[in-house]
Amino acid sequence: MRDVSIIGIGQTPVREHWDKSLRQLAVEALLAALKDAHVDEVDAIYVGNMLSGELTGQEHLGALLADQLGMNGIAAMKVEAACGAGGSAIHAGYLGIAAGQYRRVAVVGVEKMTDLWNGNVAAGLAMAADGEYEAANGISFVGLNALIMRRYMYEYDLVEEDFAPFALNAHTNAVNNPNAMFRKAVTLDQIRKSKKVADPISLFDASPVCDGAAALILSRRENLNGNSARAIEIAASTIATDTLALHDRQDPLWLRAVELSSIKAYAQAGITPQDIDLFELHDAFSIIAPMSLEAAGFARRGTGTYLARDGAIAIDGKLPISTMGGLKARGHPIGASGVYQAVEAVQQLRGEADKNQVQNARLAMTQSLGGVAATAVTHILRGKG
Ligand code: COA
Repeated sequence: MRDVSIIGIGQTPVREHWDKSLRQLAVEALLAALKDAHVDEVDAIYVGNMLSGELTGQEHLGALLADQLGMNGIAAMKVEAACGAGGSAIHAGYLGIAAGQYRRVAVVGVEKMTDLWNGNVAAGLAMAADGEYEAANGISFVGLNALIMRRYMYEYDLVEEDFAPFALNAHTNAVNNPNAMFRKAVTLDQIRKSKKVADPISLFDASPVCDGAAALILSRRENLNGNSARAIEIAASTIATDTLALHDRQDPLWLRAVELSSIKAYAQAGITPQDIDLFELHDAFSIIAPMSLEAAGFARRGTGTYLARDGAIAIDGKLPISTMGGLKARGHPIGASGVYQAVEAVQQLRGEADKNQVQNARLAMTQSLGGVAATAVTHILRGKG
């Protein structure tokens, strides 16, 4: 296997982009990443996306984007794993280089969810669950997460407010991220008073519907092309799966795929959870944050919320999470989010995170989940720090 490094990053702001199409967003992020890497060509493009066919009537994104970049002839493909599409596309690009097939690849995550002529976003998102047994019976994706949150609260004797520190942390960090969707700080009182989306999930327990694209340029270590000083190594790239349907799980309060992919990633990188300096986890719903912290080995079962309560997840805490706002407040353009996480982790490891800089950050973990963690993609990035 060859060593793989990230040599370029690019992103569009996460917004309701009423004036930009899916392809425009993807090309904008890709051109920014190419410029950042000081290169003008790649051997392959991997596109992370979930809903382009359903919401915008456009599939075949690999060929589309190769064409739009003026790179006709190269290898290109879309990678789909519901909300874990972005992380999965990075994994595919990583393998393309690690296996020796390509010298340099681009990975782009893109999703267009607003200002659509034919889109039913809730129905589209429900496709992340088991279509025959869950969606067919009418439960939405938010509804599934609400069931888990209700059960988690019951088992561990918690109330809604115990999850508020996750939203507070995410929104606080998003204030300083120019690419975040929500840049206004929120208060506990606002969270308390916010409307319910699917009981017990309220507005501040859910990530928003939004548009965005983020991109990476990956390279073999031998081909860094003058980028060696800023290159960030991909020390681990792993995927694990769990049952698609929640009702098939023996233990619905344990994210088995998160556990498996994290264990594999720590082994691949030769580290333990204690070595991680920051964790960009998949906080699409606030309930997923403590469950991820537990399954990834940072907290004992049922105690994930304590890390938030005690301030350990803040930028200056023991394990900063959602350092640029996370899915909750930077925003969650579904298939793009896994790539945004990697872009932000690279900013941290390069020391380019400005007011949100985690001091002495050397090892960052990112985790992109599909469905209710039926797919878990974990990356560990190593900086020079
Ligand atoms: N968190 C905080 N504020 C939010 C928000 C969120 N998730 N979503 C919207 N808002 C704000 C908007 O900025 C707006 O504020 P303003 O009145 O000050 O302008 C206000 O709430 C209403 O916005 P609107 O777009 O009308 O919200 P909505 O009620 O249509 O949608 C949700 C809110 C939570 C229902 C929607 O964002 C949603 O479905 N989220 C879940 C998406 C999902 O399931 N993703 C997949 C996860 S894996």
